[in-house]
Amino acid sequence: MPSEIKKISELVSSYREAKVLFTAASMDIFSLTAGKYAGLEKICSLKNLDKRAARILLDALVSAGFLKKRQDKYLNSALADKFLVVGGKEYVGNNLRYQNIIWEAWSGLDKVIKTGRPAESLMDLLANRKDFTEGYIRGMADIARKPAAELADRTETGKISEMLDVGGGPGTYTEAFLKKNPAMTGTILDLPQTLGITRKIFSSSPLKKRVRLMEGNYHKADFGKDKYDLILLSHVTHDEGPAAVGKMLKKAYRALRRGGRVIIHDFMLDPDLTSPRFSALFSVHMLVYTNKGQVYSEKEYAGMLRKAGFKNIKSADICKNMENRSRAVFGGKT
Ligand SMILES: C[S@@+](CC[C@H](N)C(=O)[O-])C[C@H]1O[C@@H](n2cnc3c(N)ncnc32)[C@H](O)[C@@H]1O
Repeated sequence: MPSEIKKISELVSSYREAKVLFTAASMDIFSLTAGKYAGLEKICSLKNLDKRAARILLDALVSAGFLKKRQDKYLNSALADKFLVVGGKEYVGNNLRYQNIIWEAWSGLDKVIKTGRPAESLMDLLANRKDFTEGYIRGMADIARKPAAELADRTETGKISEMLDVGGGPGTYTEAFLKKNPAMTGTILDLPQTLGITRKIFSSSPLKKRVRLMEGNYHKADFGKDKYDLILLSHVTHDEGPAAVGKMLKKAYRALRRGGRVIIHDFMLDPDLTSPRFSALFSVHMLVYTNKGQVYSEKEYAGMLRKAGFKNIKSADICKNMENRSRAVFGGKT
């Protein structure tokens, strides 16, 4: 095969491999094949699977490096053991469950490109699909631990007593800030269905007493006046169009005390909107299931912050060496 076509043929295999992985992770196959070899018959009976279909799927997982095979028995590779077994410290299966559900939205990309609108928006999915909300919110927590710790680390928190986490989801970022500064309390504003999961996550947390869950729609909720020292919008603005982001920033400005700061933390694009690659593709991800969402550039965010009244705008890379690196843009209320 001529080498210039290699990229195309690799992508054809990659999308097949991705769906094989999302399916297996959603069925939690890797918990059955952890620790010792599990036979095909046993896997099929425990998960109620068709034997021919399951054999083909498991063999494809072997070829992709997620399983090993001995006769008709399967065992996790080191990679699967580390990231795909429920309860593991670095488990990312919830996120893969979410990717599996959102696959349906990606299938509608052709239509979205013509109409500009997805068949089902994020709000529809959150309102109507319980399995989506759980996978989405727990999946968010799976991938948020490292960037949340780094963002808290890079933020001066000495003078902060109260923070508001707008669209805080599983509360991973609030958790990281509260761990860093034991004098802080945090409010997580999110939709009731999301906060149902957040409540479960915090039920056994030692931070529970310092966290308030505020049910509401961030488009409509009053953030209050002169109440907080820090307001965080992490991976929230990419779900919304520029007008809605602008409105939220104005509410954030009003809700901050003088000397307080807002942080927009998200994937961001370079000024010409074509790189980094992860961000350019994430923008398509927003296109397929949000009404007006997209990935913005840091320059665009700086303009929105200035328009809302913020000064001393600064920024920082978060998880700089990772493919899905993000940026934090800070704005101050003087
Ligand atoms: C991509 S998640 C980000 C979660 C968290 N901030 C993080 O960075 O891990 C977006 C969050 O916004 C919430 N959300 C979406 N639309 C909302 C709305 N209209 N009002 C309040 N929360 C909303 C979702 O429930 C979800 O928790």
